[in-house]
Amino acid sequence: MDEHDWDRVAPAFEEEIFNVPANDTKGLIKMEVDRLSDADQCATDLGCGVGRTLALLARSFRLVYAVDISSECLSIARQRHKDQPNIRYVHADLSRAPRGFPATELVLCINTWLHGDLSTRLALIDQTCRSVKRGGHLLLIVPALGSALLTHFRRLQWELRDGTPPGQVHSVIEDPGSGIEHGIIHIDSVPTKHYLKEELEILLADRGLTVEATHKLEYGWGTEFAAPPSWMKRPFPWDWFVVARRVR
Ligand SMILES: C[S@@+](CC[C@H](N)C(=O)[O-])C[C@H]1O[C@@H](n2cnc3c(N)ncnc32)[C@H](O)[C@@H]1O
Repeated sequence: MDEHDWDRVAPAFEEEIFNVPANDTKGLIKMEVDRLSDADQCATDLGCGVGRTLALLARSFRLVYAVDISSECLSIARQRHKDQPNIRYVHADLSRAPRGFPATELVLCINTWLHGDLSTRLALIDQTCRSVKRGGHLLLIVPALGSALLTHFRRLQWELRDGTPPGQVHSVIEDPGSGIEHGIIHIDSVPTKHYLKEELEILLADRGLTVEATHKLEYGWGTEFAAPPSWMKRPFPWDWFVVARRVR
């Protein structure tokens, strides 16, 4: 999705875009932000959208940069936080230099590394890592490839239990075969990058960050299926939540 696509989504963002912080039932994001919070330091919300995590950052840090490619999303975020004086709004395309904001001690980046296009995605990853001050932390949340495949398996299991013959079960993965080797899965026809835990460790290490913790941010099956059967329990679908420190 490009700038215009995100601008178009902005008015319906809460209905259209999965709300990661609201579905973080164990409070892992808040826990990590609280652990790393410092009232003398600055933080950045990269790809902040309509600002779901801005209040959390703004009460934990001296200054917060809210960065997004979509001016429509930024204007909703600004409107929602008009009483919060320590947020700076930055309209920037993270896949292009210059950034337009300084590196900070904490960078929170929730579901922004989604681009299907490899060169755009790599530029986005580079800029994200450069946005973390040396010694500072990146809190990164991305879709998990294993979770998408588990969802596919659950759907298959469900249909088989309901009596669908093996040859007739549906795929929940749109256009299988068109990018799966790159971790690209189409969601509502949008090619969306999904990651392996090991892939994230390599991508971050190559850019001077070391992974300190990897959490599974787990969600209920209701986030994947409209009416999941009651027998469908653990293991649940998840996003990867990586805590990494910039060491060089
Ligand atoms: C899935 S939304 C997540 C928004 C927010 N982090 C949240 O959790 O609600 C992805 C966000 O990344 C932004 N984005 C996508 N590509 C970007 C880019 N190249 N530079 C800056 N922001 C980008 C979009 O505008 C969108 O707001």
